Amino acid sequence: MDLYEYQARDMFESYGVSVMRAATATTAAEARQVAEDLGWPAVIKAQVKTGGRGKAGGVKLARDADEAQAVAEQILGMDIKGHTVHRVMVTEGADIAEEYYFSLLVDRSDRQYLAMCSRSGGVDIETLAKDSPELLAKVPVDPLVGVDAAKAAEITAAAGFDEADRPSLEAMFVKLWEVFRDEDATLVEVNPLIKAGDGSIIALDGKVTLDENAAFRHPEHAAYRDEANVDPLESQAREQGLNYVKLDGNVGVIGNGAGLMMSTLDVVAYAGADLPGSPSPANFLDIGGGASAEVMANGLSLILSDPAVKSIFVNVYGGITSCEQVAKGIVQAMDLLGERANKPIVLRLDGNNAAGGRHVLKRARERLAGFVLVAETMDGGARMAAQLAAGVASIDELRNAREGENR
Ligand SMILES: Nc1ncnc2c1ncn2[C@@H]1O[C@H](COP(=O)(O)OP(=O)(O)O)[C@@H](O)[C@H]1O
Ligand SMILES: [Mg+2]
Repeated sequence: MDLYEYQARDMFESYGVSVMRAATATTAAEARQVAEDLGWPAVIKAQVKTGGRGKAGGVKLARDADEAQAVAEQILGMDIKGHTVHRVMVTEGADIAEEYYFSLLVDRSDRQYLAMCSRSGGVDIETLAKDSPELLAKVPVDPLVGVDAAKAAEITAAAGFDEADRPSLEAMFVKLWEVFRDEDATLVEVNPLIKAGDGSIIALDGKVTLDENAAFRHPEHAAYRDEANVDPLESQAREQGLNYVKLDGNVGVIGNGAGLMMSTLDVVAYAGADLPGSPSPANFLDIGGGASAEVMANGLSLILSDPAVKSIFVNVYGGITSCEQVAKGIVQAMDLLGERANKPIVLRLDGNNAAGGRHVLKRARERLAGFVLVAETMDGGARMAAQLAAGVASIDELRNAREGENR
């Protein structure tokens, strides 16, 4: 999860990283007031989760109250790379002598952390890395040691900073490491990190990405969640601990295991490709290895409440959990859901005790007949679910056709 600049700024401040004074505003009048409180010149900055705001006209200087209001009016509502600006940060204008770059990130290929630093900051760092890689120092950071005084000195030396500037830069790098470590971030980036006219070092822009897998030990991070921008089904899924991602199509899909889920998405998309309206998956939903009836019910209920969903394909491979348990779970889920189970469901069970699973479904046939169809294969199941979503066949037609084949 990425933070907004103002959130990163506040986080930096709480770790003792020096930043400019600032406050946010959602209206131009409010921005004017904040700027008056801060003093002149003030800088009004669009708060959107994308870089390059400066170039896009989302960072502007204001020398007085009228200008602050006019600039804020201009920036609020602006579209920056597909992000609408709903909030600005009003901050003090910095007296910039030099702009540097610093970041800490997870280096997956090297299985450790990496510090990147350059005296040529403020610019697009990807461009710098490509065109003048010699200006970008890359220093590996041992996760167990982190950025201590020695590592910080190694970084300033690698980037070629002047002796006089090193102590304050190094102190800041250690603090930024503490942010990175204690907040479970995967990225902490400061661009630009500036040297002001008086020689002080200030983080002028901040980007922080938090590792959502560590959310369990950061209840306070929940406050950063941007509910307005989150799909309501995804936030419901998160509350129930379901691994769900909303997609564009109309076939709800449930599987157990991420690998099976991924191939199920492919098979459904393939099956729907030549049908009217090209039905495709409406979601990714992995209910995991030892899914209980309750988890199945939560998953089904979530997908049933997606208005885009026209049919559902449940593709379960019994591994640790036997298919018999899964089938019982589905029957229970249907009982729990009652009237809400109102969309056709195609079910494919295979693996551990698949026969037992089918037997359970057979016994519940009367209750499930109107909306559940059992498929023999994954391809066949995907095909039926796609046909149901396209509206080219009904459950009864598909069942009759299949029974005809079996006869
Ligand atoms: N408080 C400030 N005072 C003076 N100049 C600023 C201030 N904040 C940003 N700038 C200038 O605007 C540029 C872009 O701002 P930045 O916050 O880095 O946004 P982005 O990276 O999205 O373009 C900076 O490189 C800096 O030159
Ligand atoms: Mg920047």
